[in-house]
Order: sequence, then structure tokens, then C-alpha cells
Amino acid sequence: MKKSRNAPSSQTPAASAPRVAIAILAAGKGTRLKSQLPKVLHEVGGKPLLAYVIAAATRVVPPNDVFAIIGHEAGRVRSAVSHTGVNFGLQPEQRGTGHALMVAQPALSAYDYVIVLSGDAPQITPQTIACLLNFHLDEQAAMTLLSADLDHPTGYGRIVRMKARKGARSSEVQAIVEENSASPAQRRIREINAGFYVFTAPQLFLRMAKLSTGNPHGEYYLTDMARILRQAGQHVVVWKTENPGEVLGANTRAELSFIDHQIRMRKCQELMLGGVTIFYPATCVIDDDVEVAPDTVIEPFVQILGKSRIGAACRIQSFNVIRDTELADAVIVQPGCVLEQSIVRRGATLGPFSHLRPASDIGEEAHIGNFVETKKTRIGKGSKANHLTYLGNAEIGAGVNIGAGTITCNYDGIGKHTTVIEDRAFIGSDSTLVAPVRVGKGAYVGAASCITRDVPEDALAIGRAQQIVKEGWAREKLSARKPK
Ligand code: UD1
Ligand code: CA
Repeated sequence: MKKSRNAPSSQTPAASAPRVAIAILAAGKGTRLKSQLPKVLHEVGGKPLLAYVIAAATRVVPPNDVFAIIGHEAGRVRSAVSHTGVNFGLQPEQRGTGHALMVAQPALSAYDYVIVLSGDAPQITPQTIACLLNFHLDEQAAMTLLSADLDHPTGYGRIVRMKARKGARSSEVQAIVEENSASPAQRRIREINAGFYVFTAPQLFLRMAKLSTGNPHGEYYLTDMARILRQAGQHVVVWKTENPGEVLGANTRAELSFIDHQIRMRKCQELMLGGVTIFYPATCVIDDDVEVAPDTVIEPFVQILGKSRIGAACRIQSFNVIRDTELADAVIVQPGCVLEQSIVRRGATLGPFSHLRPASDIGEEAHIGNFVETKKTRIGKGSKANHLTYLGNAEIGAGVNIGAGTITCNYDGIGKHTTVIEDRAFIGSDSTLVAPVRVGKGAYVGAASCITRDVPEDALAIGRAQQIVKEGWAREKLSARKPK
């Protein structure tokens, strides 16, 4: 969304589009979460709270006009979201939401309007932010706040609207009253302050010095600007969203869990609308950025996380955890697999109980079976490793058969070495392949071999002790033991 799309009518100070900044309040510790992790880095739908707010903000104005105000564990917060290209303002001591804007004043006073978003309310949409700005501009207000009617408003600031009198606008606000300063009658108000505002920057910065710490927390409350601006004869108005879900803040673990659930259920709905079958959505954990193509079936109790991408007509059976992994079309993942940062190509079958560790690349129509672990390994088309096997740092061609219990010995205590198994090779069960080593095209390795030297194309290699047979040995031993 470009700034010019928000540019309305009359109040535009210059003929050109107004200069709009977005400040995101993200400096708080999140005391109520009782956590070492700063509040805005707690995750819902698989991403930090702040990442959602930044994503919404940067769809309204360019990242260059977004200022995340950080403080508690600032370095950690900055590095988690620095890739978004937004600016950062530092609030070294967190003395309240009003104080957060005071410290950002030098950067923000270069703008005509400042939109303030709360870093802990991740479901805000770009559409709502744009509506709030447009309403502010149309009303020629000094401050516009976003509100919502909540069935359970406890903990939120309440909106005290101006009594309707002749000539007064119905949207005019008298004050915002914080929960801990509210009278019993005010606590019954269901219309809450969502913590999102638009300010006309000169009005805000002219009067911000009037904020004081005379409240139960001894903080500078940004919400007090409503009363201060109104007393200065400015317009303070409220715009109520029809969708209260989008303003919910995550202040406690229970609220985090509730928001996480909402985001994930919405994700399941989106996927189902897009043609994906999800048998029992309430049991599935699917991160917000995951993509799934039509006709894929997701059975109960599946987690698909991070940036995973699932192709069409796949079947993900129960109890799989798939993270940052790409499945092509028609892949079957039988129960109990763990897949991380890997690629699985068209028509391959995994599981039950396979573990693909990072940088596994499983070829078309390949089979990876029970208790098979792969790591940094490429497996060619149609190759099979069906049972009890470890394949690490391996290059495996097409049509290869890896027998049960095969181990690539890739680590010598110092470094990792590569095992190469060329097309159509057959590795007998219980073989150990001591890397670096190569098994040539079409070669056979006898069962239980320890292969330490390269095996040429089409050869048979047997690397095991010769079998000895002692005729009658057991019978003689037993009869020697029998009592006379
Ligand atoms: C705030 C509002 C309340 C509103 C609610 C909506 C105030 C005083 N109250 O309460 O009216 O109903 O949001 O969710 O504003 N932060 C800073 N620096 C600080 C303090 C906070 O950056 O010094 C950040 C926090 O990290 C958070 C946001 O500001 O992202 C809101 O602060 P929080 O403490 O969660 O305010 P609430 O108590 O929820
Ligand atoms: Ca909050």
C-alpha cells in the first residue's frame, strides 16, 4: 500500500502525500510472561509477535518509515527482525508507552503523522491500519484511537466517550482509563483501547511534555495523551473495529496460547479453502508461512513448521514433524517421521519412523524406511534404504539398494568424509562403509562387509571374516557335559 493511497482530502499539509511514520512499541520486558525471552520475541503461529506487526506495518508504509522502539534485550530483538529493513529506536529504560514515543521524537518529528502500533498484538491487519489513518485524516483529529468491544475487557484500557450532546461527534473521546485506575462503573465498559493510534505529529510532540507519572505504575502512559489533547481543544476520536480478534495483545502465556490457536486455525481454514484435506485441524500445528498444494491430505497430529512447502497430492500421515522442508508432489510420509531442512522429490515414500536431518535430498520415487537416518545425503531416483540405516555425507545414485543395517562411517573423530554409491549398486545388509570410499556402478557389496577401499564398477566386494564350520562340534560339546 503506497502512502498516496491513504492521502485524503483536506488535511494534507502539503500538496503532495503526507509523510506517515509507523512506530511500533516493542521495548517492554513482558513481566507477566515470566520469561527470559523479551515479550515481542515470543512466538505465535511459528513467528515472533513483532514479526507480524512489522509485516502489517510494511504493507502500509515502506520499511524505511517504520521505527521499532526496542529496549529490553534490544540486541536480541533487533537481530531477530533486522532483515525486515525497518529502523530501530532505543528506549534504554522502559518508563511507559508514552516514554517510548518521547525517546523516538527526534526521528518521528520529521513526519506529518505517526501511527503507533503495539508490538505484542500480532493480528492487526494492514487494512485496519489504513482505515484508522484515513479516519484520522477525514476527521482532522489530533489523535485517533482504535477500539474494539470485548466480552472480557479485563486488563485493557477502557474508552470513555464524550457524552452525546448537540454538535459533538459521536466518535469524540473524553479519556482512556487504564484498568488499575478505573472506577467500578468504568470497568464495566466493554469498549477497550486496542493500543493502536494515529497522531498528528506536531500536536503530539507539542504536548507530550505534559505526560506525567502520576499513576499506579509510575509510568508515562501514552493513553493520557487522549485527555491532554482534548483539554487543549484538539479532536480526539475513536474508530471501532468490527473484528475484535485482531487487537488482542499477548500479555500472558494464556493469551499467547489463545492467539496462537486463532492464527493456526485460520491457517488451517485457508489451506482447506485452497483444496487441502485436514482430517482434524485442532490437532495439527501448521506455521503461518507454510505452503501446501491442493489434494494433499494431512492426518491428525501433524506439525508442519517454519518455511516448509508441501506439494500436491501428498499424504502426511499422523505424528510427523516437518520443519523447513520441501516435499514435491505425491510424496507419502508414513507415521512417525522427523524431517528437517530437507528436500523430498516427487513420488518418494518416507517412514514409518524415518529421520531426515538437514541437507537430505531424497530423489523421485525413492523409499526411506523404518529407523533410517539421513544427513547431508543425496539419494537418487528410485533408490531404497528401507530399514535400520545411517546415511551421512553420502552421494547415492539412482536405483541403488541399501540393505538393512547399513552404516556410512562418515566421521573419523576429526572430520567428515563422503561415501559415494553409484547407480544400481547393491549394498548387502549390515555393511559398514568407511568413508571416504566409493562403490562403483552396478557393484555388489556382500552382507556384513566392512568396506574400507573403493569397489570398482560391476565388482563384488566382500569384507568379512570367512565362515568356519566344525562338523559335529556342538553335539560333542553337549555330550561331554552330560552327567555319567
Ligand atoms: C496498553 C495500554 C492499554 C491498552 C493495551 C492494549 C498504556 C498505558 N496502556 O496496555 O490502554 O488497552 O495496551 O493492548 O499504554 N512498551 C514499550 N516501552 C515501555 C512500555 C511498553 O515499548 O516503556 C511496549 C510493550 O513492549 C508493548 C506495548 O508497549 O509492546 C504495550 O505495553 P504493555 O505493557 O503491553 O501495555 P498494556 O498493559 O497491554
Ligand atoms: Ca499489551
